[in-house]
Amino acid sequence: MVLKTWEIFFKYHHLGGLLLVALVAAALYVKHDISYWNVVKKRVTSKEEQLATKHDSTTNYDFFSGRWVYDDVSYPLYKEEQCSFVEDSFACEKYGRKDLKYQQWRWQPHHCDIPRFDGKAFLEKIRGKKVLFVGDSLNRNQWVSLLCLIESSISPSSNKSVTLAGNLLYFHDIIRNSCNFFFLLNLKEYNATIGFYWSPLLVESNCDDPDKHSVKDRIIRITSIEKHARHWTDADILVFDSFMWWLEPTMTLLWGSFGSSDAIYKRVEMRLRRYEMALNTWSDWLEININRTKTKLFFMSLSPYHLVYVKGERWDVQQNCYNETEPIFKEEYWGISTDPNMMHIAESTIQKLEKRGLKIEYLNITHLSDYRKDAHPSIYRKFFHPISEEQLASPKSYSDCVHWCLPGVPDIWNQILYSYIINSS
Ligand SMILES: *[C@@H]1O[C@H](CO)[C@@H](O)[C@H](O)[C@H]1NC(C)=O
Ligand SMILES: *[C@@H]1O[C@H](CO)[C@@H](O)[C@H](O)[C@H]1NC(C)=O
Ligand SMILES: *[C@@H]1O[C@H](CO)[C@@H](O)[C@H](O)[C@H]1NC(C)=O
Ligand SMILES: *[C@@H]1O[C@H](CO)[C@@H](O)[C@H](O)[C@H]1NC(C)=O
Ligand SMILES: *[C@@H]1O[C@H](CO)[C@@H](O)[C@H](O)[C@H]1NC(C)=O
Repeated sequence: MVLKTWEIFFKYHHLGGLLLVALVAAALYVKHDISYWNVVKKRVTSKEEQLATKHDSTTNYDFFSGRWVYDDVSYPLYKEEQCSFVEDSFACEKYGRKDLKYQQWRWQPHHCDIPRFDGKAFLEKIRGKKVLFVGDSLNRNQWVSLLCLIESSISPSSNKSVTLAGNLLYFHDIIRNSCNFFFLLNLKEYNATIGFYWSPLLVESNCDDPDKHSVKDRIIRITSIEKHARHWTDADILVFDSFMWWLEPTMTLLWGSFGSSDAIYKRVEMRLRRYEMALNTWSDWLEININRTKTKLFFMSLSPYHLVYVKGERWDVQQNCYNETEPIFKEEYWGISTDPNMMHIAESTIQKLEKRGLKIEYLNITHLSDYRKDAHPSIYRKFFHPISEEQLASPKSYSDCVHWCLPGVPDIWNQILYSYIINSS
């Protein structure tokens, strides 16, 4: 029953479309403005400043620059087959991946250590609270990773399942009355909820229906978010992402309602501008509706993909994540998908909001993930569309180089998220 729901939910997620989009996008944005990075380089805080503010947050620890270290003693943090939440899109071992080294890399920041993930401590911390992930399938990837990380800390007798109720996905032990837009998990033992809300563009769009979101011509209500956002107001912790879905070369913007006779439709390229407009709608909503004493906010920086990457010294369009078994060790490496202009828009939206008194932690996981060309499912996952003979003959052509195997990279994102949450008041 539950599995069936998952299948319906993901059946339409045609990766092919995404790959095509990403390839086009990647091809279009090959020219990186390297100088950008000199502008946004983190301010170097003096030792004194760091010590002075150390007690109230983890912000001064730079978790985001470091290197991957092979560590088969502490990793993986859980076993794939022991996690009842791993969905088939991320279950690489189950779908035949034989080299399992991708599960055994630890992210080692240069100047600190990431605290060990303690599931019991996390569950205590969220007792009586609601944690909500809001975004696209990469955010769902991270949400599933979090469920796997805590599963061993939940009492085995707890009735665990995931249910679809509209756009919200919760993991729960009592099936709730499913009102229109939700997916639910409710941990009775801790009176806590950890949910996922499908809203890939954050604002309203014709991709919002979890049952049929793979729409070719995307139509975005660029100034409307309330339909989704009203489901977020009572959350104690909100974790957002939004990037991949904006890469379409053209999209239709809509002012007014779907189907209304006086609605205005405008087909535009302007990839950066539309992303900025949507993030402004999102941040305006947060500014007005978020209770600052109650809700902690996080935004995940873009999750890189490996449809093309630097092999040796040059971009290699033939090369994707298929058959890759090692991370990239060259520290200054920046992949083609880590679009600095898109990142800059997200960063500046968040900075502007902070100036207006609302703090969002920007978890800058792009660079650390970018090294991990080995950690995508490639062909080792369930595909919800048939693979043709032609594709089978050339595995690269249908490899998923966007999502991440579990256990894997999203576990590290969650370890970082954990350290922010556990150290917060
Ligand atoms: C994000 O991390 C990268 C790599 O450590 C760094 O170069 C970049 O400046 C960071 N961005 C922000 C906004 O902190
Ligand atoms: C569970 O948490 C909610 C707040 O999220 C609170 O209103 C309710 O009283 C709690 N219930 C119990 C049994 O602790
Ligand atoms: C678990 O929940 C389902 C759905 O409500 C119910 O049918 C089943 O009996 C429950 N199992 C246990 C062991 O409580
Ligand atoms: C905000 O949240 C705090 C803590 O939960 C609560 O005491 C307060 O009443 C809330 N404020 C508003 C305006 O809802
Ligand atoms: C995979 O990589 C290995 C080592 O780099 C190479 O020997 C092998 O031919 C590759 N296999 C395919 C199918 O590309």
